[in-house]
Amino acid sequence: MDSKNFILSIESSCDDSSIAITRISDYKILFHQKISQDLEHSNYGGVVPELASRLHSVQLPRILQNIKQEGIDFDNIAAIAVTNEPGLSVSLIEGVMMAKALHLSLSVPLIEVNHLKGHIYSLFIEKDVIFPISILLLSGGHSLILEAYSYDDIRIIARTLDDSFGESFDKVAKMLNLGYPGGPIVESRAKLGKDSISFPIPLLHSKEISFSFSGLKNAVRMFLDGKHINDDLINDICFAFQKSAIAHVSKKTQIYFENYLKDSNIDYFGIVGGASANISLRESILSLCNKYNKTLLCANLEFCSDNAAMIGRCGIDAYRLNKFINAKDLDISPKSRF
Ligand code: KG4
Ligand code: ZN
Repeated sequence: MDSKNFILSIESSCDDSSIAITRISDYKILFHQKISQDLEHSNYGGVVPELASRLHSVQLPRILQNIKQEGIDFDNIAAIAVTNEPGLSVSLIEGVMMAKALHLSLSVPLIEVNHLKGHIYSLFIEKDVIFPISILLLSGGHSLILEAYSYDDIRIIARTLDDSFGESFDKVAKMLNLGYPGGPIVESRAKLGKDSISFPIPLLHSKEISFSFSGLKNAVRMFLDGKHINDDLINDICFAFQKSAIAHVSKKTQIYFENYLKDSNIDYFGIVGGASANISLRESILSLCNKYNKTLLCANLEFCSDNAAMIGRCGIDAYRLNKFINAKDLDISPKSRF
C-alpha cells in the first residue's frame, strides 16, 4: 500500500470553515473540525459574504494548527481536496488558497470537489458508495432532484424556479426576527405550533417536477403585514409554513417516484444538504420510500450541513480515479458546473 494514505479536505463555500483528514484505504475520519459562523451572521439575518471571507481566513489556519496539535503526520497526506464550486466566491477563495499553499509545501496533488457532489457523498462517509441512487438535495442555495450513476455521471432531474428550500426557512425566520440559520429555529418553533393557519402549497396543480418557494414566502409576508405577533402566533406560522414547504417537496418528489423512479433500476433514495436534517421532511420522504419500495438513505445529522468530511469522502473517489488538477487550473465558480 502507498505509505501516503490520508486526504486532507477543506470546505469554505459559505459560512462554515471545516477541515478533515480521512484515511483513503478504509474511509475512516481521523480528524474533523468545523467552525460555524452562525453567531456572527445572525444579527444580519443571513450570510454577509465579506464577513464570511474574513472569518475563514482566521478559522481555517486555526483548524490546521489543531490538526498538527493532534499529532497527525502531514507526511502521510497523499492529496488535498477542496471545494471550489458552487458557493460564495469570497468564501471559496479562502479554502482554495489554503489548498494551493498546502499543495506547494507538501508536494502533493490537488483535487477539486463540487460542493453538491460533496453533499451526495455525505451519505457515504466511512462507507462504500451506492450507485445508482436518486437524491433530493435541499440546502441554502439549492433544491434539486438528482440521479447519480457514478462519480462522473450525475444528472439533474428537477430544480427550483426561484428560492431554495433552506433559503425560504432563512427568510421566514428573518421576517419573524428569529435569527440565522432559520431552518433549525423554524423547525423547533413549528414543533410548538398548532394547525391554525393555512398557507398555499406551491405549484400544487402542476404536473411539472420543479420547486418554487418564493410564493409561499410571500404568503407568509402578506399574512404578517400589519399584524401584532406574539410567541404563540410565531409558532403557528412556523408550523403552517413548514407544513406547506414539506407538502410541496413531497408532492413533487411523489410525481418523480410515480413517473420515473418506480419502474427504474434505482433502489435507493437519499436526502442530503443542510435542510435534510429536518425531521418532518425525513418522515414525509420515508413514507414515500416505503410506498414505492425504495430504501431511504440519510446522512448522520452532523454531516447534513456543510462539512469537510463529505468533501474528503468525495475526494477519495476522485483520488482513486486519478482526478487531479494543476494548481494553475484550479479556479472557483459561484455556479455549479456539474
Ligand atoms: O447545506 P447547507 O449547510 O449550506 C448550503 O450549502 O447552503 O444548508 C444550509 C441551509 C440553511 O438554509 C438552513 O436554514 C437549512 O439548510 N437548514 C434547515 C434545517 N437545518 C438547516 N432547513 C429546514 N429544516 C432544518 N432542520
Ligand atoms: Zn451545502
